[in-house]
Amino acid sequence: MQPDPKTPEHPRTPEHPRIQRPVPPVPVRPAPAVRLDRVSKRYPAGGGAYAVREVELDIAKGEFFSLLGPSGCGKTTLLRMIGGFTDPTDGGVLLDGQDVTGLPPHQRNVNTVFQSYALFEHLSLADNVAFGLRRKGVARAEIRARVRGMLDLVQLGHLADRRPATLSGGQKQRVALARALVNRPQVLLLDEPLAALDLKLRRQMQVELKQIQREVGITFVFVTHDQDEALTMSDRLAVMNEGRVEQCGTPEDVYERPTTTFTASFMGTSNLVPGTYRSGRVTLDEGPELLVGQRPSVPDGSRVNLAVRPEKIWLSDLEPGMARVTGTVRETVYSGPTTTYLIELAPGVTVSVLEQNTVRSRREDRWSGGERVEIGWKPEHCLVLD
Ligand SMILES: Nc1ncnc2c1ncn2[C@@H]1O[C@H](COP(=O)(O)OP(=O)(O)O)[C@@H](O)[C@H]1O
Ligand SMILES: [Mg+2]
Repeated sequence: MQPDPKTPEHPRTPEHPRIQRPVPPVPVRPAPAVRLDRVSKRYPAGGGAYAVREVELDIAKGEFFSLLGPSGCGKTTLLRMIGGFTDPTDGGVLLDGQDVTGLPPHQRNVNTVFQSYALFEHLSLADNVAFGLRRKGVARAEIRARVRGMLDLVQLGHLADRRPATLSGGQKQRVALARALVNRPQVLLLDEPLAALDLKLRRQMQVELKQIQREVGITFVFVTHDQDEALTMSDRLAVMNEGRVEQCGTPEDVYERPTTTFTASFMGTSNLVPGTYRSGRVTLDEGPELLVGQRPSVPDGSRVNLAVRPEKIWLSDLEPGMARVTGTVRETVYSGPTTTYLIELAPGVTVSVLEQNTVRSRREDRWSGGERVEIGWKPEHCLVLD
């Protein structure tokens, strides 16, 4: 006799009821290009201190993702774990859904561009770029076509026969980029690749690098300690502090809605004014009680910092409903398109206010210092941070 397929495995006793659970449809999501599954790294040489601590991150395919944070916060260590140059002490690394933890770099479809270009000085640019393809045994005609395409992409096609010694820093960095991209990695890791360039060239390379990334569609994981660089280039970024990710989001999320005091002060200039929170208002230590636009997740009576960006503060024509404070102008710093005022609200509490010097601003309206002034901001433009 055929067994009845509906026969329960367990007798239907009250302890073993046959529960028919509806099976939820599994959403088909592409695996992230990079998944960091609670990775940690402790160096024995560092006394067992954490260089990276329980980092969880998903980086999507084709994303320009930045790791941003001050020197020593663990960016390079995290990047090296993705590349396979360093093994995590705990946790795992997945590339395109595959667990690659413990695999050496050459078994991962990942390439790295370092700050030092590490070019072969005795080879032409074309041969530098072709190097990896030759080692892989790619056919000569294909190598020629791919190298040419890549050098054109980084705007160095006309210099293909030159040696690296004759190039500028920006050009060398572009060769290094071409050499990494020509292998068509799934993910390109870049460790402060623009740090050695002067400011003007750096700005130009930021734009170029972003354009190249869009063109090739490869996932970029970009390490930088420069907030402006991370804000202008990234689709998303992770702000790191002491081995941890403090906040992860789009540039706008991180800049406009920082969730911690660290992120608020690290991402550009933020005015942090200490006070005490109570039911939708913050009473400044030496000043008025101000309405805040956001319900913070802190209990009444908490010590907090009120964070307001310099460009969100009004100097004149204040509107009803604004938070208002008075202070003394302590300094006026003219810097071309903008003027920054440092305004002291109380001893030791100074806020900076940024004003655009537009066609409508008049020189004689600028404060010179010493004046008592009233400034204000809209409640929704300040954040309460603990
Ligand atoms: N090989 C190593 N041995 C011991 N400590 C290290 C090593 N590499 C990095 N560290 C430590 O780990 C921390 C993070 O370093 P790193 O990842 O280089 O930071 P970042 O790239 O953000 O400047 C630092 O405190 C650094 O001193
Ligand atoms: Mg580093």
